[in-house]
Amino acid sequence: MKIQKIAVLGAGQMGSGIAEAAATRGVSVVLVKATPGSIDKARGSIEKTLGRMIARGKMSQADGDAVLGRITFTDDLAAAADADLLVESIVEDIGTKKDWFAKADAVMKKDAVLASNTSTLCITEMQQAVSRKDRFIGLHFFNPARVMQLVEVIPTDATVAEVVAGVTAFVEHIGKTPVLVKDRTGFIVNRLLTPYMCDSIRAWESGLADLHGIDTAMQLGANHPMGPLALADYIGLDIVCAMAENLYATFKEAHMAPPATLKKLVKAGQLGRKTMIGFFDYNHEPPVPNPALDR
Ligand code: 3HC
Repeated sequence: MKIQKIAVLGAGQMGSGIAEAAATRGVSVVLVKATPGSIDKARGSIEKTLGRMIARGKMSQADGDAVLGRITFTDDLAAAADADLLVESIVEDIGTKKDWFAKADAVMKKDAVLASNTSTLCITEMQQAVSRKDRFIGLHFFNPARVMQLVEVIPTDATVAEVVAGVTAFVEHIGKTPVLVKDRTGFIVNRLLTPYMCDSIRAWESGLADLHGIDTAMQLGANHPMGPLALADYIGLDIVCAMAENLYATFKEAHMAPPATLKKLVKAGQLGRKTMIGFFDYNHEPPVPNPALDR
C-alpha cells in the first residue's frame, strides 16, 4: 500500500500543520475545511510558517511555492475522493466525527484508509461509523505538527496489518517517528502529559509557587521546552480540560480530573494563546501572569 496523496479533514491549527508537514515532504494534500467560513485562514497560516522558513534561509522561495502548490484548499469533501489516506482533525466530539467519517466512507475510493487525529477519543467507537472497519486507524500528531517528531499509530482490533504497515511507512516518509500504541484513552502522550499539566495547576492552587515559578522550575529543572502552564495555554485550555475529563471518565484516577482553576478559565473563555489569555496574558511580551491569578 503506497500513500501518495492524502486528504486532511479540518483546516484548523492541527489540520493545517499536518497538511504542511506532508506537503513539505512531497505528498499531494487536499485540505478540506469542515466548518463554514473561508479556507483562506488556513492558507494564510501555512503561507506564514513557510514565509518564516524562507526568511530564515531554511527554504528557498521556489521550494516554498512548491509546498503550497501541492496543497489543494477546499471546503468540498468530494475533492478527497481519490486520496489514499484521510486524516480527520476536526472538533473533539465523537458524534460530529462519526458523521464526517460516514460521509468520507461514502465519498472516498474503496481502498483508502481513514484515520483520526483525536487526542483522547476512542478510535474503535469512531470506526463503527464506517463500512471499511479494516481500513480505519488512529494517527495522532502533535502541535506544532510541522515541528513535532512523534506520530502515535493506533490500530484497533479490526485494523488489518497492511494498513498499519502502510501508515507507518507514510509517517516515516514525512520525516516523523511512529510509535505503535493501543486504543486506550489518551494513548501514551496525553495519558501522561494531561495529568502532569493538571497536577501543576493543583500545585499552583495549593500555593506551592507562583505561575512563573512552576514553569521556570520544569523548564530549567527537567529541560522541558515549555513549562506545564505555558504548555496548557499553548495546547488550549478547552482541549486540556476535555482531555482531563475523558481520562478521568475512563480511569477514575483523581490526579487525572480537571482542577477547578482550569474549569473556571474555560468557563470564562480564557483558553490560552488562542484567546490571548489563559494562565498567562499574551497581550504582553514577554507574557505576564493572568492578573486574576497573580497573587
Ligand atoms: N508552527 C510551525 N512551526 C513552528 C511553530 C508553529 N506554531 N512554532 C515554532 N515553529 C518552528 C519554528 O519555525 C522553528 O523552526 P526552524 O528551526 O525550522 O526555523 C522551530 O519550530 C523552533 O521554533 P522557535 O525557535 O521559534 O521556538 P522554540 O525553540 O521555543 O520552539 C516549540 C517552539 C517547538 C513550540 C517548543 O516550545 C516546544 O517544543 N514546545 C512543546 C510543544 C509540545 O509539547 N507539544 C505537544 C503538545 S500535546 C499535543 O499536541 C497533543 C494534542 O493531542 C493536544
